Amino acid sequence: MKRSLHSIQLVGAIWLAVSVALSLAASAQSADAVERQAWLRYAPLDPQTARTYVHLPTTVVSLGDSLVLRTAEQELIRSTGQMLGRTFSSSRDSFAQGAIVLGTINSIHGVAGALHPPQELQPDGYWLTTARIHSADCLVVTGANDRGILYGVFALLSKIARGDSISNLNELRNPYAPIRWVNQWDNLDGRIERGYGGRSIFFDDGKVRDDLTRAGEYARLLASIGINGCTINNVNANPAALEDSFIAQVRRIADAFRPWGVQLAMSVDLSSPKVIGNTHVETAASAVQPAQSAAAPLDTFDPLDPRVADWWQKKVDYIYTQIPDFAGFVVKADSEGRSGPSAYHRSHADAANVIAHALKRHGGVVFYRAFVYNHHLDWHDLKNDRAKAAYDNFHPLDGAFADNAIVQIKNGPIDFQVREPVSPLFGGLRQTNEAIELQITQEYTGQQKQLCFLVPMWKEVLDFDMRVDGKSTPVKDLVSGHSFHRPVGGFAGVANVGLDANWLGSPLAMANLYGFGRLAWNPNLSSDAIIDEWTRLTFGSDPLVVQMVKKLQLDSWPVYESYTGPLGAGTLTNITGNHYDPGPESSEENGWGQWHRADHNGIGMDRTIATGTAYIGQYPPEVQKLYESLADCPDNLLLFFHHVPYTYVLHSGKTVIQRVYDSHYEGAERAAGFVQQWKTLEGHMDDARYRDILARFQFQAGEAVKWRDTICNWIYGVSGIPDQKGRVGTPQGGAPKASVLNR
Ligand code: GCU
Repeated sequence: MKRSLHSIQLVGAIWLAVSVALSLAASAQSADAVERQAWLRYAPLDPQTARTYVHLPTTVVSLGDSLVLRTAEQELIRSTGQMLGRTFSSSRDSFAQGAIVLGTINSIHGVAGALHPPQELQPDGYWLTTARIHSADCLVVTGANDRGILYGVFALLSKIARGDSISNLNELRNPYAPIRWVNQWDNLDGRIERGYGGRSIFFDDGKVRDDLTRAGEYARLLASIGINGCTINNVNANPAALEDSFIAQVRRIADAFRPWGVQLAMSVDLSSPKVIGNTHVETAASAVQPAQSAAAPLDTFDPLDPRVADWWQKKVDYIYTQIPDFAGFVVKADSEGRSGPSAYHRSHADAANVIAHALKRHGGVVFYRAFVYNHHLDWHDLKNDRAKAAYDNFHPLDGAFADNAIVQIKNGPIDFQVREPVSPLFGGLRQTNEAIELQITQEYTGQQKQLCFLVPMWKEVLDFDMRVDGKSTPVKDLVSGHSFHRPVGGFAGVANVGLDANWLGSPLAMANLYGFGRLAWNPNLSSDAIIDEWTRLTFGSDPLVVQMVKKLQLDSWPVYESYTGPLGAGTLTNITGNHYDPGPESSEENGWGQWHRADHNGIGMDRTIATGTAYIGQYPPEVQKLYESLADCPDNLLLFFHHVPYTYVLHSGKTVIQRVYDSHYEGAERAAGFVQQWKTLEGHMDDARYRDILARFQFQAGEAVKWRDTICNWIYGVSGIPDQKGRVGTPQGGAPKASVLNR
């Protein structure tokens, strides 16, 4: 008994020593290196966990020789070796000791004819299974195509990194939608529009960077979560990006993406046929000057002019000579000052189709953004409503778009606010492909300086049942093309990573990029499952760390909402400036249309059919019912849909004004609580990340107080109604600082 106690203690001591050694080894890596690896750290497993993979064969046999398959093989060999401390190696045909076999389902049939997937493998889908091949036990990673095999390898690695069992594997996963892209809003000079993680990984000073290491690393991260396309330049596109000499440079970025199965796409300006040839681009020293596209500048960009069609065709044909797997274009037109088809009285479908037609023969697609609105709206007119714009512009065109055109719709009708209803346009297109645009970069949700894990918000949007024709039509099924049997559809996430070691400007914000990819792959995954995966991959499986990081992430959106914009109040952020600080007055009295309509008598936009802008009428009847009546409208969207007096009593029993005060105070308190909660993790992770994140929470706590005081004082100033708890607008609480917006 005594001896066994000793041996337990001895094993424990050894285990502790090994763990400490491992974590020291990890912390010996520079903090930058750790952050740059993001969720692909593949840190050495503790010996006990590593032992559970002892039966994993160390020979990898690849049935084929494509670029992507070779990437999959190398990734597998390197990462399993790193995690398990064993040497893995590749072999052409050595099955004898068992092997991990990589190959498309067709090539697998060459060695294991009887192996049939339990259901059909779709493009990019994978199947992890076991089989006897040449009388040896093998683990098979297969897919319909090579990209599927790569995704299968990443799925296998993720399991090992998280300590999941891989015995008796039989897991087949198909993607929910064919299109799973990120959009980068990078400018050619190296700045990134709404980017908070440093300068562009693609461009600098008007040229493609010489060193594209980070572009390749980014593609690896994207591939690991199933992203298959990336637009590299700002939707406010510089036409110069389509100059032949620039395309020749862009080719190098496509080369960096290609091993990871990520296809390159570009944003284009509709006026390109008129301006290309006259814009100036720098030519990188390394760029080869290939043959020209013969797309000479025109005096028009009218999408129905045959010369314009010819121009697009020549330009697109040329791009495919440089980038044979080019994915397509994203177009922002007639929006926020961009040129568009209205210049020639043509429709958005005309504009999309001329480009779609040029891409068609090459298999490319065009995303045409529905973010079209008039930013010079007359704010005096209470019937004006920016929220109606996307539906008004695109619903009448349903059925007019080419089958390789996709209408890209932001999740809400305004612009990535902390709380919006879903865009009614998702339910307004039956004969048109659509994609949902989600914003990973936190433009209006704290700009990565504050924690706001957006997956729960995106899930609410994707799960929202639009009830088209009175039937179940959740947004995820509309955008993926399932509801109306569309040929393509899917997901676009505005990512905006930069050169900072942690990509997005904050290590915890990377959960949003990870979560976007996972949801695009499978929107039925729960927020909890996604954040659990991300946390274990990023920080390891210390139970305290996992539990706390998950809790903080899952609490963060409700907390951020509570101190920045409860009750669906619209934009209280400084909209004419940095989109970060509180600035409730900036939303009003201008043409941008992000109004909250706060005055002395009440607050909120009346969007009802009965008395308001009739925006609610854009939804199918069952959804209209949900929002039209004040009595039924959910509290969290009340002020988005209704203008009410401050004394209006919510479902919760509180008045609107008291709810606003309480929400801001509670939110600021909970943000302060993040600091305390994070402190419990000291010593449970590398010091660099611990301290970095601690400083961020401390900063956020201060920002929450700033928000609380600005909004509470402002709304007290406007309403004249003090806080019942004496915190605002009383001698104890201090006088209001904000000016009064009485009209
Ligand atoms: C927001 C953002 C702009 C961006 C625009 C878009 O308005 O602030 O920077 O260009 O969205 O999505 O096109």
